[in-house]
Amino acid sequence: MQIQFSQDYSDTTLFAVIVDEDSMNEVLSGPLFSEGLSQWVVEADFKATDGGSIAFPSAALKNPNGIKSVLIVAKGDDERLAGGTIGFHAKSKGFDSVAIYNASNLEQVTTQLILGNYRFEHYLSETKDSLETVTFIGASENDGVARGLTIANARNFARDLVNAPADDIYPETLAETALELASDNVEVEVWGVEKLIEEGMVGCLAVGQGSTRPPRFIHLHYTPSNKDENTQKVVLVGKGITFDAGGLSLKPSNGMQTMRCDMAGSAVVLGVFHALQTLAPNVEVHGLIGAAENMVAGDSFKLGDILEYRNGKTVEIHNTDAEGRLVLADCLCYGSQLGADYMIDFATLTGACIVALGEHYNAVLSNDDDVLNNLQSSAEAVGERTWRLPLPSMYKKKLKGTWSDLKNVGGRAAGTITASLFLSEFVSNTKWAHVDIAGPAFVDSTFEHFHNGGTGVMVESVLHMLTK
Ligand code: BES
Ligand code: MN
Ligand code: ZN
Repeated sequence: MQIQFSQDYSDTTLFAVIVDEDSMNEVLSGPLFSEGLSQWVVEADFKATDGGSIAFPSAALKNPNGIKSVLIVAKGDDERLAGGTIGFHAKSKGFDSVAIYNASNLEQVTTQLILGNYRFEHYLSETKDSLETVTFIGASENDGVARGLTIANARNFARDLVNAPADDIYPETLAETALELASDNVEVEVWGVEKLIEEGMVGCLAVGQGSTRPPRFIHLHYTPSNKDENTQKVVLVGKGITFDAGGLSLKPSNGMQTMRCDMAGSAVVLGVFHALQTLAPNVEVHGLIGAAENMVAGDSFKLGDILEYRNGKTVEIHNTDAEGRLVLADCLCYGSQLGADYMIDFATLTGACIVALGEHYNAVLSNDDDVLNNLQSSAEAVGERTWRLPLPSMYKKKLKGTWSDLKNVGGRAAGTITASLFLSEFVSNTKWAHVDIAGPAFVDSTFEHFHNGGTGVMVESVLHMLTK
């Protein structure tokens, strides 16, 4: 996408103007617009308060040039929504170029414009045009635009990975995608089955053993060029279940339909790495992904099986559909050995999280208030929704095994908390936060300016946290 700053919109098909309640009348009475416009808007009963929009024919402009439509967008409390609405509208109508007048936060508008314009079209035989050129009218050139572009592309990269069918993205191809992110400052290493056995990555091996597509462990490592003794070290962990059939504790068809999204945690990690080389923060970042397909076969892992982890803890399998925590445990054990300042994992971990918080909130749980506050304030700064759940050790007894230290499920009550308590057994004394993205990672219907499907949620929060 090409972004330019100009007064000239003669090659543009969509004209968008961002207004707020106080200045709407003044802006629409300006020299660019036709005389009656501010009155037409009033007659159409358009209020600039609700983040909504209204489209007019090109006659709304004094000089329409090649413009086909004029979109008036309310800024509301958050200009991000206006940017997103413009991108979404452009894609719905198939406009390939837009001129945006009266934008103020160009980074936010650019980011959300691109996210709103996104569709997963890889398998569609007919598609509408996407935006190719964006012209900011009356705004001066601004670094925020380049940053917005990098961040939105990273998030859309994550969405592509989540939306792709499990027949395209399986552990091996997920690993190939990671390898393609290698660059001057990013190293990528992939472990196959032999190395997983050698290293005692028992969760990845067990979950992946019923699939014809063998598991992988992926390790990305970004080292800043200006690293010094004050540079922080951060570990990001992602659940990479490329398809979750549930294993022998098989899911019903309904629950399985969209389980290609079960690698959305790994997509957060890969999305972040997509942007790191460009944003170049002075933070050392490790990305760890446990990738496996949870399938049903003659050699699937079984109920009653006992896994012995790298940290010596043993886990009895009581439900093969509680597989995410099993692969995450490998990664967290490994991550806790890297001597990080803090570690955060991302996972579509529990249906219980959707029951508790619905489809638009991420649950966050942590053993460290500072790490969590840091993460939540970044999330708030970029407009992503998180809600903290407690991590009380009195619930740990729900996870006590009969034949082993732990079992992999903690019963019906507090499912998101017990899953998180399970993970906490593998982080050693590392400061750690867990983000359950089961709701927002993949939405069944379009929400705000996000088309249904993968959302790339949390990519922006993490990039904000690493670069602010
Ligand atoms: N991947 C699922 C969780 C999930 C459900 C994510 C719906 C997104 C949407 C996870 O592996 C799972 O199956 N969890 C079980 C845990 C249970 C067996 C303790 C669940 O939530 O039912
Ligand atoms: Mn499962
Ligand atoms: Zn799962």
